[in-house]
Amino acid sequence: MLTMNDEIKNFYENFPYPSKIINSKVKLYRNALWLTKLVGKRPDEFNENEKILEAGCGTGEFSCGFGLSKAKVIGIDISENSIKRAKSLAKRFNLRNVEFLKMDIMNNSFEKESFDYVFSVGVLHHCNNPEKAFEKLVELVKPNGFIVVGLYNKYSRFPVVIRRMILDIFVGKDIERRINLANKLFYKNRPLTKEKRIWFADKYCNPLEHSVSFEEVLDWFGKNNVKFYSSKPEVKSLDRFSLITSQISWMFDGLSFFTVAGQKIKL
Ligand SMILES: C[S@@+](CC[C@H](N)C(=O)[O-])C[C@H]1O[C@@H](n2cnc3c(N)ncnc32)[C@H](O)[C@@H]1O
Repeated sequence: MLTMNDEIKNFYENFPYPSKIINSKVKLYRNALWLTKLVGKRPDEFNENEKILEAGCGTGEFSCGFGLSKAKVIGIDISENSIKRAKSLAKRFNLRNVEFLKMDIMNNSFEKESFDYVFSVGVLHHCNNPEKAFEKLVELVKPNGFIVVGLYNKYSRFPVVIRRMILDIFVGKDIERRINLANKLFYKNRPLTKEKRIWFADKYCNPLEHSVSFEEVLDWFGKNNVKFYSSKPEVKSLDRFSLITSQISWMFDGLSFFTVAGQKIKL
């Protein structure tokens, strides 16, 4: 019988995400900029002594963006097809400092505290236990290093959860039918490119997704000696009440995803 992890792997073998069409270094740079800004850097600003891990790198666009710097970059993913595409992206831009490996976060073979930066965007919520997966990643961060996680938000993703339920009722789990119906019901049946179909599959057809609140991420940080550094969207205060109101307001802005950066405290 397939485990949930096998199902996720198979899903991303068929729909390698994000499969963005990036044909210039400028686009690679722009694509990664919002993410590196969270740790106060531009994509080309990391230095040759720094090591960056992207855990769940998909088709490698962010990792290749970090590779515009002199840092050593490693991207890992459970999907072979995604890794294959990621490798060909790095080759296209001749990024010799970027390496891609097929590897599961939960069974990774890296030494503890060996990375200056660990990025994991849109991944932990597809793991059986997002908090355990987070712990696995924090172990890899050097003291004073950074961890950045992007996750579906418990409050603001509510409209997508309802849409997924509607699709469950009308077409069940069939992925092609879900993509077509989602497009018809929620996006005025617009023409779908291959990249857009992959986006629809990821958003509406994924076999496993959790959603997590900002407060939960701060709890994970607290338990693992990580202090809050920045977030996107930004928040005014880390007070629980204020965080909840912010997250509800994101729902009205159509923001179902949030990213939080933390710095590992040197003990
Ligand atoms: C939504 S995609 C995000 C890709 C990339 N981070 C981005 O945002 O462009 C999620 C990726 O996580 C990978 N993934 C899921 N569980 C994983 C695990 N346990 N270990 C490594 N990769 C995993 C999937 O194969 C998929 O490529």
